[in-house]
Amino acid sequence: MLSTDTHSIDMPAFEIRPLSCSAEILSMLSELLVDVVAYGGSVGFMHPLSSEQAQAFWHNSLLAADLGARIVLGAFDEDTLAGTVTLLLDCPPNQPHRGEIAKLMTRRDYRGRGVASSLIRAVETLAVEHRRSLLVLDTAADEGASAFYEKLGYVRAGEIPDYALKPHGGLTGTIIFWKKV
Ligand SMILES: CC(C)(COP(=O)(O)OP(=O)(O)OC[C@H]1O[C@@H](n2cnc3c(N)ncnc32)[C@H](O)[C@@H]1OP(=O)(O)O)[C@@H](O)C(=O)NCCC(=O)NCCS
Repeated sequence: MLSTDTHSIDMPAFEIRPLSCSAEILSMLSELLVDVVAYGGSVGFMHPLSSEQAQAFWHNSLLAADLGARIVLGAFDEDTLAGTVTLLLDCPPNQPHRGEIAKLMTRRDYRGRGVASSLIRAVETLAVEHRRSLLVLDTAADEGASAFYEKLGYVRAGEIPDYALKPHGGLTGTIIFWKKV
């Protein structure tokens, strides 16, 4: 277990831990990803996302984690995967101090309870442990999570227009954020 956290005094704590590949973890991650995309979450995929595509993505991601190229964290409420985030560590040789945050998502029925904030704080702790002093990320301009990242101290570097398609179609810009940790 990496850490537990409470959003406020009467909210439950979530157990945050790095994930490794198992049929159960793949199934939970895939179910979460398919649902997030279906409800408009801009996390790199188009709706409808099949369970097979989602499983293939997470399988490759967890293999990369086994090789040390990334860390995939899960936030658990007992046996339920409430959310996940990935810290990408595989940066070019001239950027050994940098990490990238990706694939942050919280189950819809767990939103607004501090799951994502706890995951980001855990990622920042891990980044420091891996001697990473600069974190970067991007989020969709339309219905993305800019305000969430700003609350956590991430600095908006700028917006690239028409960067990606939204899960149900139509272009959106992307906003780049950074933070020194
Ligand atoms: C963005 C997301 C991860 C937030 O998860 P969450 O667990 O609900 O977040 P938290 O409960 O930790 O929220 C912390 C704070 O940020 C706010 N917040 C959360 N999501 C927000 C958003 N999209 N926009 C603005 N504010 C947001 C919350 O209201 C809360 O504010 P408070 O501290 O004043 O109460 C979740 O909405 C999600 O999975 N969205 C779909 C996928 C996605 O867009 N991921 C981001 C890709 S870059």
